[in-house]
Amino acid sequence: LRVLVLISGNGSNLQAIIDSCDDHLQADVVGVISNQPDALGLQRAHHAEIDTSCVIARKGESRESYDLRLQQRIEKYQPELIVLAGFMRILSDDFVSQYEGRMINIHPSLLPKYTGLNTHQRAIDAKDTEHGASVHFVTPQLDSGPVILQARVPVYAEDTAELLTERVYEQEHAIYPIVVKWFAQGRLEMKDNLAFLDGELI
Ligand code: GRF
Repeated sequence: LRVLVLISGNGSNLQAIIDSCDDHLQADVVGVISNQPDALGLQRAHHAEIDTSCVIARKGESRESYDLRLQQRIEKYQPELIVLAGFMRILSDDFVSQYEGRMINIHPSLLPKYTGLNTHQRAIDAKDTEHGASVHFVTPQLDSGPVILQARVPVYAEDTAELLTERVYEQEHAIYPIVVKWFAQGRLEMKDNLAFLDGELI
Protein backbone atom coordinates (compact mmCIF):
# COMPACT_ATOMS: atom_id res chain seq x y z
CA LEU A 1 0.00 0.00 0.00
CA ARG A 2 1.35 3.41 -0.97
CA VAL A 3 1.06 5.67 2.06
CA LEU A 4 1.65 9.41 2.10
CA VAL A 5 2.01 11.15 5.45
CA LEU A 6 1.27 14.84 6.05
CA ILE A 7 2.96 16.49 9.02
CA SER A 8 3.66 19.89 10.55
CA GLY A 9 6.05 19.15 13.38
CA ASN A 10 7.46 16.50 15.63
CA GLY A 11 6.40 13.50 13.58
CA SER A 12 6.40 10.90 16.33
CA ASN A 13 3.33 9.26 14.82
CA LEU A 14 5.09 9.26 11.47
CA GLN A 15 8.00 7.55 13.21
CA ALA A 16 5.72 4.92 14.71
CA ILE A 17 4.32 4.15 11.27
CA ILE A 18 7.77 4.05 9.67
CA ASP A 19 9.01 1.72 12.40
CA SER A 20 6.10 -0.65 12.02
CA CYS A 21 6.56 -0.74 8.23
CA ASP A 22 9.66 -2.80 9.02
CA ASP A 23 7.45 -5.32 10.79
CA HIS A 24 5.50 -6.29 7.67
CA LEU A 25 2.92 -3.56 7.83
CA GLN A 26 2.15 -4.33 4.18
CA ALA A 27 2.45 -0.60 3.65
CA ASP A 28 5.17 1.72 2.40
CA VAL A 29 5.53 5.34 3.31
CA VAL A 30 6.30 6.68 -0.17
CA GLY A 31 6.50 10.32 0.85
CA VAL A 32 6.14 12.86 3.62
CA ILE A 33 4.82 16.36 3.01
CA SER A 34 5.10 19.14 5.57
CA ASN A 35 3.68 22.65 5.61
CA GLN A 36 6.53 23.67 7.94
CA PRO A 37 10.08 23.55 6.53
CA ASP A 38 11.66 23.00 9.95
CA ALA A 39 9.43 20.11 11.03
CA LEU A 40 11.44 17.51 12.94
CA GLY A 41 9.40 14.85 11.15
CA LEU A 42 11.18 15.76 7.89
CA GLN A 43 14.48 14.70 9.46
CA ARG A 44 12.90 11.47 10.63
CA ALA A 45 11.81 10.82 7.05
CA HIS A 46 15.27 11.62 5.65
CA HIS A 47 16.78 9.26 8.14
CA ALA A 48 14.47 6.52 6.87
CA GLU A 49 15.32 7.46 3.25
CA ILE A 50 11.78 8.55 2.51
CA ASP A 51 11.15 11.27 -0.06
CA THR A 52 10.06 14.56 1.50
CA SER A 53 8.56 17.73 0.26
CA CYS A 54 7.27 21.03 1.70
CA VAL A 55 4.20 22.94 0.65
CA ILE A 56 4.44 26.26 2.47
CA ALA A 57 1.49 28.63 2.56
CA ARG A 58 2.15 31.94 0.84
CA LYS A 59 1.32 35.23 2.51
CA GLY A 60 -2.41 35.85 2.28
CA GLU A 61 -2.97 32.69 0.24
CA SER A 62 -6.53 31.37 0.32
CA ARG A 63 -7.27 27.94 1.72
CA GLU A 64 -8.49 26.79 -1.68
CA SER A 65 -5.29 27.89 -3.40
CA TYR A 66 -3.10 26.21 -0.82
CA ASP A 67 -5.11 23.01 -0.88
CA LEU A 68 -4.89 22.87 -4.66
CA ARG A 69 -1.10 23.13 -4.52
CA LEU A 70 -1.05 20.50 -1.80
CA GLN A 71 -3.21 18.21 -3.88
CA GLN A 72 -0.93 18.59 -6.90
CA ARG A 73 2.05 17.65 -4.75
CA ILE A 74 0.22 14.70 -3.23
CA GLU A 75 -0.69 13.34 -6.65
CA LYS A 76 2.99 13.02 -7.55
CA TYR A 77 3.19 10.22 -5.02
CA GLN A 78 0.10 8.39 -6.27
CA PRO A 79 -0.87 7.44 -2.72
CA GLU A 80 -3.57 4.95 -1.86
CA LEU A 81 -3.83 6.21 1.71
CA ILE A 82 -3.21 9.67 3.13
CA VAL A 83 -2.25 9.78 6.78
CA LEU A 84 -2.57 13.06 8.67
CA ALA A 85 -0.06 12.94 11.51
CA GLY A 86 -0.08 16.25 13.32
CA PHE A 87 -0.82 18.21 10.15
CA MET A 88 -1.93 21.52 11.65
CA ARG A 89 -4.05 22.95 8.88
CA ILE A 90 -7.77 22.82 8.36
CA LEU A 91 -8.50 21.31 4.95
CA SER A 92 -11.17 22.62 2.59
CA ASP A 93 -14.25 20.53 1.87
CA ASP A 94 -13.26 20.11 -1.78
CA PHE A 95 -9.87 18.79 -0.80
CA VAL A 96 -11.31 16.36 1.73
CA SER A 97 -13.91 15.08 -0.75
CA GLN A 98 -11.13 14.15 -3.18
CA TYR A 99 -9.83 11.65 -0.68
CA GLU A 100 -13.02 10.37 0.87
CA GLY A 101 -12.42 7.01 2.54
CA ARG A 102 -8.70 7.25 1.79
CA MET A 103 -7.60 9.80 4.37
CA ILE A 104 -7.22 9.20 8.12
CA ASN A 105 -6.28 11.37 11.07
CA ILE A 106 -5.27 10.83 14.67
CA HIS A 107 -6.70 13.08 17.33
CA PRO A 108 -5.61 13.18 20.98
CA SER A 109 -8.99 12.72 22.64
CA LEU A 110 -11.77 10.20 22.94
CA LEU A 111 -13.84 11.63 20.10
CA PRO A 112 -16.48 12.97 19.92
CA LYS A 113 -15.13 14.61 23.06
CA TYR A 114 -12.73 17.55 22.64
CA THR A 115 -12.35 18.28 18.96
CA GLY A 116 -9.80 21.02 18.25
CA LEU A 117 -6.80 22.00 20.35
CA ASN A 118 -5.58 21.65 23.98
CA THR A 119 -7.40 18.38 24.47
CA HIS A 120 -5.25 17.18 27.36
CA GLN A 121 -5.72 20.30 29.46
CA ARG A 122 -9.41 20.28 28.72
CA ALA A 123 -9.75 16.68 29.92
CA ILE A 124 -7.92 17.62 33.15
CA ASP A 125 -10.01 20.75 33.67
CA ALA A 126 -13.20 18.72 33.21
CA LYS A 127 -11.91 16.25 35.85
CA ASP A 128 -12.34 13.39 33.41
CA THR A 129 -11.08 10.09 34.76
CA GLU A 130 -10.44 8.77 31.28
CA HIS A 131 -8.82 10.27 28.19
CA GLY A 132 -7.20 8.90 25.07
CA ALA A 133 -6.71 9.06 21.33
CA SER A 134 -8.82 8.31 18.27
CA VAL A 135 -8.00 7.40 14.70
CA HIS A 136 -10.79 8.41 12.34
CA PHE A 137 -11.60 8.82 8.68
CA VAL A 138 -11.36 12.44 7.60
CA THR A 139 -14.59 14.11 6.56
CA PRO A 140 -15.19 17.81 5.89
CA GLN A 141 -16.15 18.57 9.49
CA LEU A 142 -13.07 19.00 11.69
CA ASP A 143 -12.23 15.96 13.86
CA SER A 144 -15.70 14.54 13.25
CA GLY A 145 -15.28 11.70 10.77
CA PRO A 146 -16.21 8.16 11.79
CA VAL A 147 -13.91 6.72 14.45
CA ILE A 148 -11.92 3.61 13.50
CA LEU A 149 -9.96 2.85 16.66
CA GLN A 150 -9.58 4.43 20.08
CA ALA A 151 -7.22 3.88 22.97
CA ARG A 152 -8.01 4.91 26.53
CA VAL A 153 -5.73 6.03 29.33
CA PRO A 154 -6.54 6.90 32.94
CA VAL A 155 -6.36 10.51 34.10
CA TYR A 156 -4.91 10.86 37.60
CA ALA A 157 -5.77 13.60 40.09
CA GLU A 158 -2.19 14.89 40.09
CA ASP A 159 -1.83 14.87 36.28
CA THR A 160 -0.39 17.76 34.34
CA ALA A 161 -1.03 18.26 30.63
CA GLU A 162 2.56 17.15 29.98
CA LEU A 163 2.19 13.87 31.85
CA LEU A 164 -1.11 13.16 30.18
CA THR A 165 0.29 14.03 26.74
CA GLU A 166 3.03 11.45 27.24
CA ARG A 167 0.57 8.78 28.32
CA VAL A 168 -1.65 9.44 25.31
CA TYR A 169 1.30 9.61 22.90
CA GLU A 170 2.25 6.07 23.83
CA GLN A 171 -1.21 4.91 22.83
CA GLU A 172 -1.21 6.96 19.64
CA HIS A 173 1.97 5.25 18.54
CA ALA A 174 0.36 1.88 19.19
CA ILE A 175 -2.97 2.41 17.44
CA TYR A 176 -2.00 4.40 14.34
CA PRO A 177 0.12 1.61 12.81
CA ILE A 178 -2.68 -0.88 13.54
CA VAL A 179 -5.14 1.18 11.52
CA VAL A 180 -2.68 1.60 8.64
CA LYS A 181 -2.23 -2.16 8.64
CA TRP A 182 -5.98 -2.79 8.57
CA PHE A 183 -6.27 -0.42 5.64
CA ALA A 184 -3.39 -2.13 3.83
CA GLN A 185 -5.13 -5.45 4.34
CA GLY A 186 -8.25 -4.06 2.70
CA ARG A 187 -10.26 -4.53 5.88
CA LEU A 188 -11.38 -0.92 6.35
CA GLU A 189 -14.00 1.00 4.52
CA MET A 190 -16.00 4.19 4.91
CA LYS A 191 -19.58 4.19 3.60
CA ASP A 192 -22.34 6.74 4.24
CA ASN A 193 -20.11 8.46 6.76
CA LEU A 194 -19.68 5.25 8.77
CA ALA A 195 -16.56 3.16 9.30
CA PHE A 196 -16.51 -0.60 8.70
CA LEU A 197 -13.94 -3.21 9.67
CA ASP A 198 -14.27 -6.56 7.88
CA GLY A 199 -17.70 -5.40 6.72
CA GLU A 200 -18.90 -4.80 10.30
CA LEU A 201 -19.91 -1.37 11.50
CA ILE A 202 -17.35 -0.03 13.94
C1 GRF B 1 -0.56 14.16 18.07
O1 GRF B 1 -0.92 14.40 19.40
C2 GRF B 1 -1.77 13.90 17.24
O2 GRF B 1 -2.77 13.24 17.94
C3 GRF B 1 -2.22 15.28 16.88
O3 GRF B 1 -1.03 16.00 16.68
C4 GRF B 1 0.02 15.41 17.42
C5 GRF B 1 1.11 15.08 16.46
O4 GRF B 1 2.24 14.59 17.09
N1 GRF B 1 -3.07 15.26 15.71
P1 GRF B 1 3.46 14.04 16.24
O5 GRF B 1 3.87 15.16 15.27
O6 GRF B 1 3.01 12.82 15.50
O7 GRF B 1 4.53 13.76 17.24
